[in-house]
Formats: sequence, structure tokens, C-alpha cells
Amino acid sequence: MIKTLTVIFVLLLFVSAVSCFGAEQFPNGFHNGGIAPCEGCHSKTPKVAESGSALTLAKDSQSSDAGRGMFNGQDPGSTCLVCHTAPKGQKQPSGYFVATSNDDLAAGLPPGQMTPGGDFGWLRKSYIWATQEAGKLKDGQSQGEHHGHNVIASQFGYNPDYSNAKAPGGIFPSDKLTCTSCHDPHGNYRRLADGSYSTSNAIPVIASGSYKSSPLPDATHAIGSYRLLAGKGYSPASSGRSVIFTSDPPTAVAPDKYNRAETRQGNTRVAYGSDMSEWCQNCHEPHKHATGNAAKITSGIVKQYNSYIASGDINGSRSSSYSSLVPFEVGTKDYAELKRLAGNGGEGGDMSGPLSGENVMCLTCHRAHAGGWDSITRWNTKAELIVYDGKYPGIDSGAPTFIAQGRTSAETRKAYYDRPADSFAVFQRGLCSKCHAKD
Ligand code: HEC
Ligand code: HEC
Ligand code: HEC
Ligand code: HEC
Ligand code: HEC
Ligand code: HEC
Repeated sequence: MIKTLTVIFVLLLFVSAVSCFGAEQFPNGFHNGGIAPCEGCHSKTPKVAESGSALTLAKDSQSSDAGRGMFNGQDPGSTCLVCHTAPKGQKQPSGYFVATSNDDLAAGLPPGQMTPGGDFGWLRKSYIWATQEAGKLKDGQSQGEHHGHNVIASQFGYNPDYSNAKAPGGIFPSDKLTCTSCHDPHGNYRRLADGSYSTSNAIPVIASGSYKSSPLPDATHAIGSYRLLAGKGYSPASSGRSVIFTSDPPTAVAPDKYNRAETRQGNTRVAYGSDMSEWCQNCHEPHKHATGNAAKITSGIVKQYNSYIASGDINGSRSSSYSSLVPFEVGTKDYAELKRLAGNGGEGGDMSGPLSGENVMCLTCHRAHAGGWDSITRWNTKAELIVYDGKYPGIDSGAPTFIAQGRTSAETRKAYYDRPADSFAVFQRGLCSKCHAKD
């Protein structure tokens, strides 16, 4: 018994030692848009086949787990989270952390990372409440598994979504979903000077292609796809190769500082250019709402977006009307223009709203990873009001239970990335009204 405990203890020590790996071992970046040092993820370097561009296992290693090289984490997703989880006690948003430590997620406390994709910690936040309906008490609920993509990472306690067997409107098996279902761990997908994507090593990746400060590719240098996202032909090993991507990575540019609170005027603007919806459709069917490169924002909707500040306040103007709670695609692959737009409110970038002909996309309403609300939406679409009596609704704020929905007001505020409640109306409705006047 003591022996087993010691073994577990030593294992834990090993795991926490590995968690400092990222910052200390790789001060100049880790992936840098392409393939990172093998030992950052594999505890034993796999035997690679001689030919072929994408990494494939040598024939004699293909059937054995050892041949796959073992991972620094318990499974592929955990291997990513060893570096991408904030250390215990780190509640402020910082760098490339996309998950809050489980130790910091006690009841009532919100996850703290505020990247555009969102903090996977929201998957651990389940809420129940009692609500009055037609004079009868009814239970309301908002289960953690509906707050994000349920990535499998058992070492960190992330389990499959047992309520969706497959991607809704697709075939991707939920019990296989993990980071490498969407991101290519080897960073093979690269953007070339002509804007096309390739996985061939003939033109090497020199840097991340995600940022305002990223270099541009040229005839002999490529840069990584946006966020190392996989493209055409990717058949995630995680899916058991049952899914093959048919769309290339989206066109987008993130500001260099992208994980931050969005206090007054403080939008973090990722300049989404095109193809995000098409990319999500590698696993999902088109949505019932207009979405994608062809879902143009009409002039009437442009006018509504740009004048809308909050419920009852439509005195805004285009130059400051952008909201990261309702982003859109500008409908371009012009990276110079996207780099101009990307930035942080008050500190650069361009916070103007859409022009006619720009388009709605999946991330207009959803986050890519996780967030505070059902169906990973950016605002609560299940409550009539998102601000009640000038305060973020919570069980501690005096809001009715069917509006507080089991959250503390601190959790609600964090789900809106720390915007002050008074940047909304005293009684603020949902944000479909940023585009549709009738709501
Ligand atoms: C960022 C983490 C990461 C790095 C760095 C990395 N790998 Fe991997 N590798 C993985 C994961 C995760 C898998 C499992 C397959 C998957 O989930 O896509 C994998 C699988 C493999 C495979 C099996 C092929 C397959 O698709 O199953 C080979 C071969 C391989 N890696 C070789 C390497 C080599 C060689 C390097 C260094 C040059 C390297 N890897 C660097 C994460 C990484
Ligand atoms: C050894 C630590 C480490 C591991 C393991 C690791 N990462 Fe990272 N990751 C980093 C660091 C450091 C950065 C920021 C610097 C960079 O991109 O090189 C980063 C950045 C990223 C980015 C943004 C890159 C860009 O160019 O926009 C993505 C996406 C990402 N990681 C995904 C993953 C996935 C998926 C895995 C697992 C397959 C993984 N990481 C494993 C350390 C790590
Ligand atoms: C369903 C697909 C999907 C899965 C699963 C996924 N990601 Fe992402 N990830 C994305 C997309 C899309 C973005 C770009 C989000 C944006 O810019 O709005 C992104 C962005 C990121 C970033 C940049 C910071 C941010 O949040 O914008 C990092 C780092 C990252 N992912 C790491 C991970 C890790 C680690 C995992 C597993 C624990 C993971 N991702 C799982 C699709 C996914
Ligand atoms: C205009 C906003 C909007 C856009 C654009 C949008 N969605 Fe949704 N989506 C929602 C809302 C609101 C819900 C939850 C309410 C519902 O089920 O209708 C939802 C629900 C979903 C669900 C859960 C459905 C289920 O059966 O559980 C999936 C999956 C989904 N969306 C994927 C997507 C994808 C993929 C895209 C882009 C191709 C997209 N959405 C575009 C607003 C949007
Ligand atoms: C690699 C496949 C894959 C890609 C790419 C993908 N998804 Fe999913 N998605 C899934 C799977 C599997 C599920 C069901 C399991 C779950 O909900 O965690 C899911 C569930 C969802 C849900 C429902 C969450 C819930 O439980 O209510 C939404 C919304 C969603 N995805 C939106 C998106 C959006 C937006 C994108 C593009 C940024 C996207 N997905 C890209 C595989 C994918
Ligand atoms: C970024 C702007 C934008 C947002 C936000 C938005 N929509 Fe839309 N919506 C559009 C566009 C563009 C169309 C298609 C063009 C049209 O029909 O005018 C559309 C069409 C519709 C339609 C069908 C046409 C109609 O007017 O009857 C409905 C219904 C609708 N949206 C509901 C919603 C709901 C519900 C939400 C919030 C969950 C929402 N929309 C959020 C832009 C938006």
C-alpha cells in the first residue's frame, strides 16, 4: 500500500515537473507555427517512416503503442493540457492557457482564462435551479457538458459528452473528441505565399501565422495555419480515421495579446476573414441560421449592428460598434487588412462594425472551445435578460432564479469576459438584437 502511494506520489511529482516545461524549456516559443521539439509531447521519439511529407510511423511500429512514442501526458489531450492549463492559483488570464486548474474551480468560482476560444474549465460548471412556470415549480439546468467541446483529457478529468454520441449534424464520435481532432499536433498545415495550404515539407514553416505580428510567407518560407488548425485531407488519429476534413483552415488574425479581460472599450478583436463556418462544417452540418462566406450581412442589419449599443440605446456609430460578443467575418483573405483590424480596444486595432456584404459565421454566436452558456454561445440565449436591474444576474444579486440560473454574479460577469455590467442596459436583452431590431 505504502509502495503504491509512493509510486503515485512520484508520478504526481513528475507531472508537476513537466508542467513547467513549456515556459522554461522553450523560452522562444514551442510550436512556432509548425512542428515543435518531439520531447515536448512524446516521452520517447516515435520511429518515423522514411518517405512521405506528413509524419507517419515506421511500418514496424504501426501496430504497437510503444511505437507511437508514448506521451508526456496520459493521452493526447492531456499532453496538450500539461502546458496549456494555468498552474494552480493562476486566476488571471495569461498567455496560451486555455484551461483553469481544477483546484481553482470550487462552486461559485468562474474559470479565469479569457482567450477568444474560451476556457475549458466551463465544462466543469454545472448549474441547477428551481423555476416557477405556470404556477408550478420546475427544475432548470445548464450542464457543464453543454458549455463546450468535451475534449478527452483524463489526467485533467475531462470526459466525453455522453449526451451527444456524435457531433450534432455530423459523424465525429464524441468519445474520441480531443485537441488533436481540430489542431494538427505536428503543425503540418502551412500557408504559402499564394494563400494556399500545403502539408509538404518542401517549404518549411518559419513562424506562427496567427498573429498581427506574424511574418508573411514568401517563395521559400511558409507560416503556420491559423492556430495550427488542420485542413483538407486531415484524418484525425483521434477519430480512428473515420472523419476526413474537406475544408482548409479559416482565414483569421489574432492580436498578439489575446488572453485578457475585456473591460470598458476593451474588446479583444480577432479579425476573422473567411471560411470559419466552412471549417466547422468539417464535422457539423450547416446551421439553421444563415452562416458562412455566402451569409452576407444586409444593409438593414449593418445599420442595426452599427447603431446598437444596448437595449433601447441605438445611438452608436460604426467606428466604435464592434463587439467581440458578436463578431463577424469581413469576407476577405487580405492579410494586410486583417492585421490592421486585429487588436485590443483602446490599445490599437480597429473596432468598427461591419459594412454591407461582410458575413455571419459560426463564431458570431458560438465560441470554439467553451464558455459560460449552453451550446457554447457567447451570451446566454436561454434567458430573456442578460443584465437584470443594472447588475449581472446571480444567486447573490437579487435576480429572480430563472434569470440567475444557478450562477453567482461573479460567474456571469466572467462569462462576459469582465465587461462592466453598465456597458449594457439596466435591463439588457440577448444579443440577437445587435443585428435584428425586432428582438
Ligand atoms: C505538440 C505535441 C507533439 C509534438 C511536439 C510532436 N508530436 Fe507526434 N504526436 C502527438 C500526438 C498527440 C500524437 C497522436 C496522434 C494524434 O492525436 O493526432 C502523435 C503521433 C505521432 C506519430 C504517429 C502518427 C499518427 O498520426 O498517429 C508519429 C510518427 C509522431 N507523432 C512523431 C513525432 C515526431 C518525430 C516529433 C518531433 C519531430 C513529434 N511527433 C512531435 C503530439 C506531438
Ligand atoms: C511543452 C509545452 C506545450 C505542449 C506540450 C503543447 N503546447 Fe501548445 N503552446 C505552447 C506554447 C509555449 C505556446 C505559445 C508559443 C508558440 O506558439 O510556440 C503554445 C501555443 C499553442 C497554440 C497557438 C499557436 C499559434 O501559432 O497560434 C495552439 C493552437 C496550441 N499551442 C495547441 C496545442 C496542442 C493541440 C497541443 C497538444 C497536441 C499542445 N499545444 C501542446 C506550449 C505547449
Ligand atoms: C472543436 C475544435 C477544437 C478543439 C477540440 C480544440 N480547439 Fe483550440 N481552437 C480551435 C479554434 C477554432 C480556435 C480559434 C478560436 C478563435 O480565434 O476564436 C482555437 C484556439 C486555440 C488556442 C489559441 C487561444 C484561443 O483560445 O483562442 C489554443 C492555445 C488552443 N486552441 C489549444 C487547444 C487545446 C490545448 C485543446 C484541447 C484541450 C484545444 N485547443 C481543443 C478549435 C479547437
Ligand atoms: C446567429 C447565431 C448562430 C450562428 C451563426 C450559429 N449558431 Fe449554432 N446555435 C445557436 C444557438 C442560439 C443555439 C442553441 C439554441 C438552439 O438549439 O437552437 C445553437 C446550437 C448549436 C448546436 C447544438 C445543436 C444541438 O443539437 O445540440 C450546434 C452543434 C451548433 N449550434 C453548431 C453551429 C455551427 C457549426 C455553426 C456554423 C456552421 C453555427 N452553429 C452557427 C446560434 C447560432
Ligand atoms: C473535429 C470535429 C469537430 C469540429 C471541427 C467542430 N466540432 Fe463542434 N462538436 C464536435 C463533437 C464531436 C461534438 C459533440 C460533443 C460535445 O458536445 O462536446 C460537438 C458539439 C458542438 C456543439 C454543441 C455543444 C453542446 O453540447 O451543446 C456546438 C455548439 C459546436 N460543436 C460548435 C462548433 C463550432 C462553432 C465549430 C467551429 C469553430 C465546431 N463545432 C467544430 C466536433 C467538432
Ligand atoms: C451578426 C448579425 C446577426 C446576428 C448576431 C444574428 N443574426 Fe439572424 N440573421 C442575420 C443575417 C445576415 C440573416 C440573413 C439575411 C436576412 O434574412 O436578412 C439573418 C436571418 C435570420 C432569420 C431569418 C430571417 C428573418 O429575419 O426572419 C432569423 C429568424 C434570425 N436571423 C434569427 C436570429 C436569432 C434568433 C439570433 C440570435 C441567436 C440571430 N438571428 C443573430 C444576421 C444576424
